[in-house]
Amino acid sequence: MKVSVIGCGYLGAVHAAALASLGHEVIGMDLDEAKVDALASGNPPFYEPGLSELLLKGQDRGSLEFTTEVTRVASSILHFVCVGTPQKPGELAADVTYVNEAVESLLPYLTSTSVVVGKSTVPVGTAERLAGVISGTGASMVWNPEFLREGHAVEDTVHPNRLVYGVAEGEAGQEAATRLDEVYASMLAEDTPRIITDYATAELVKTAANSFLATKISFINAMAELCEASGADVTQLADAIGLDDRIGRKFLNAGLGFGGGCLPKDIRAFMARAGELGADQAVTFLKEIDSINMRRRVRMVDIARDALNGSFIGKKITVLGAAFKPNSDDVRDSPALAVARLIATQGGVVTVTDPQAIGNASTAFPELNYVTDTTEALTGADAVLLLTEWHEYRDLDPHVTAESVNGKVLVDGRNVLTPQLWRAAGWTYRALGRP
Ligand code: UGA
Repeated sequence: MKVSVIGCGYLGAVHAAALASLGHEVIGMDLDEAKVDALASGNPPFYEPGLSELLLKGQDRGSLEFTTEVTRVASSILHFVCVGTPQKPGELAADVTYVNEAVESLLPYLTSTSVVVGKSTVPVGTAERLAGVISGTGASMVWNPEFLREGHAVEDTVHPNRLVYGVAEGEAGQEAATRLDEVYASMLAEDTPRIITDYATAELVKTAANSFLATKISFINAMAELCEASGADVTQLADAIGLDDRIGRKFLNAGLGFGGGCLPKDIRAFMARAGELGADQAVTFLKEIDSINMRRRVRMVDIARDALNGSFIGKKITVLGAAFKPNSDDVRDSPALAVARLIATQGGVVTVTDPQAIGNASTAFPELNYVTDTTEALTGADAVLLLTEWHEYRDLDPHVTAESVNGKVLVDGRNVLTPQLWRAAGWTYRALGRP
């Protein structure tokens, strides 16, 4: 099927490449020329395992093209809207300007056989409003939220764990769903569960899912606070409660908490939207989820300062990790960089290293010092802070690491190292939520 993908960021670029790999003819459209050039040359402007190969394959086969020209979408039947909905400056609410503009830019090319498929994360009510915007063209609107995780985006897109379609009532909605079934035929053939619902439910599925994940992380981090106060170990607590399959062990890793371009802004946008709908009490708890999450960053700084006898001034601190999570170069609301900056403002001499995110980190926060090589970054450190759990940091050997540093102080912000090993090698090992 001929499809267009409007907005080629983390979501759109992967969606475009994945649909091409499934045999569709895909035009990816983005206004950012540099991004389009990078995608067209098979070098995505962000790190996502497997994406480069998929881009090259699609373009070699002639089934994937990228353009800045919206006119190129004219022959597509389905148009996937994948633009960003960042937090509005100075507000909790999401900024849907790009979504509005994307849909308006499609208007001249829509006919009664076209389907506009919204994938961006939007405040509930947006799909209904946009269906009104396109109604004069005879085209249909479907809301089809995306659940991919950065770092696993290709796998999550090609083999999603569920498909959700929010459609209009009646025959038009059913026809639009059939069109989407054709695009996702390979996923449906794998028995991927598919839920067809109304617009509002589809929009809420996405926000509710991210809110639940954020709640799970903050729940275990709240338990970490109690573990710190009582001398208990939050990792063992998580293992033990996670064995109850009603609870589950996934997303119960206590530590520095959640960041990135999705969870933090989505829970805030949800609170803002609930307020507009007069249902703010229903999600007031998300404010506490956000607060617990933010407290972890401050606590991390406090533990590190304490491990250095009460002051960062003149001390060399090496921060392992800049990305908001491993296997990504995304530094949006990165807990690691938030900690690095706090320590720098308190007089620490901070060096940050990361396997993929140094470029983005140094653009966002040029005031910090960045070093690519891990051993070089560790050299002369008075304290080492593990803040993003990349494999190479999880695998660090305490004896080898000791040869580079000045002081054997390690704070494990992600609870991924074995304390006994580090302590046996003479290190002061500190962590969040562990004795
Ligand atoms: C999240 C959701 O997991 C996806 O399902 C969703 O599609 C996506 O947002 C989105 O809205 O687009 P993502 O932001 O890529 O995906 O990252 P996650 O894997 O959810 O991790 C978020 C943050 O939580 C990271 O900073 C991670 O380090 C942290 N985290 C995760 C924890 O602190 N503890 C855990 O146990 C798990």
